[in-house]
Amino acid sequence: MECAEVGDDVLGDDPTVIELQNRVAKLFGKQAGLFVPSGTMSNAVAIRAHTVPGDEIIIDKISHIYRYEGGGYAAMSGVSVALVDGEKGLMSADQVQSAIRKAEGSQGHYPDGTLVCVENTANLGGGTCYSQTTFDAIAAVARENGCKSHIDGARIFNAVIAQGVEPARMCRDYDSISICFSKGLAAPVGSVLVGSKEFIAKAHRWRKMFGGGMRQAGVLAAAALYSLDNNIERLSEDHERAKKIALAIADMNNFTVDLNTVQTNMVYVECKMPASELVASLAELGIDLFDTGANTVRIVTHLHITDEDVQRIISAFDAL
Ligand SMILES: Cc1ncc(COP(=O)(O)O)c(C=O)c1O
Repeated sequence: MECAEVGDDVLGDDPTVIELQNRVAKLFGKQAGLFVPSGTMSNAVAIRAHTVPGDEIIIDKISHIYRYEGGGYAAMSGVSVALVDGEKGLMSADQVQSAIRKAEGSQGHYPDGTLVCVENTANLGGGTCYSQTTFDAIAAVARENGCKSHIDGARIFNAVIAQGVEPARMCRDYDSISICFSKGLAAPVGSVLVGSKEFIAKAHRWRKMFGGGMRQAGVLAAAALYSLDNNIERLSEDHERAKKIALAIADMNNFTVDLNTVQTNMVYVECKMPASELVASLAELGIDLFDTGANTVRIVTHLHITDEDVQRIISAFDAL
């Protein structure tokens, strides 16, 4: 980051940002990329560029876009949502087909379903991954119904490593993908949105209007480039550590873990005690977790969690 060559990305001449955008676009088999400050902005810009107010997006009921992005889709894009009751954050192609409503033929009753958004891995689903067959089938349903398709790929590389599928193949049939560098890839800031040249040109304008243009952003892009070179293959270590933690906690009396959902770097634990108490107790030991419900906590493994930490976490749960 210290050595990054910088320019002014608002004027489009920051060489490090350009390199990052081009590399990510190529990796995902798309024409162009756009560096943005956050995953939330990446999704917001994508939704805005794919839709017009009065449209409807089709999305899982526990997706991050619906749950945790402040209702930005409504405020900034003026779209409604058709919620799909997926399984662990994963929708089926049939569910998506049933959820798509079209204005045409409804005598003005329906909004226009024009965008299908999938999340891979699905955060609230437990870090679950789509099978390639279902992933392709959903994109096909979107296309057949005149909808665009967007992947919230905040953790797409976790899915890539867990499934052993190349990013370009995995995302081949989708119009846009948002990829975060500030999660498992361990960079401090930033996401890249990729898609066709035409789509990214539109997204660039929305990024400007949303206030997401950054000037000497090469310092941040440099960290993302580092993570592309160094932190992708090693995600398998995070997955192994998450599995180890999950198996150990699933064996304890006070906790329940759905081991089927432990496919990547997350472990959701149901606990008998209030989750807030558990979080507070572990924080005293220097172990930071999220409570995601009254009796649910989320454990996430990442670059900085070692095998010794795994043992410490297991012992701390065992002592509760
Ligand atoms: C699936 C998913 N999408 C998008 C985001 C938003 O990313 P950011 O926090 O960078 O806005 C997150 C954040 O955790 C996420 O889990």
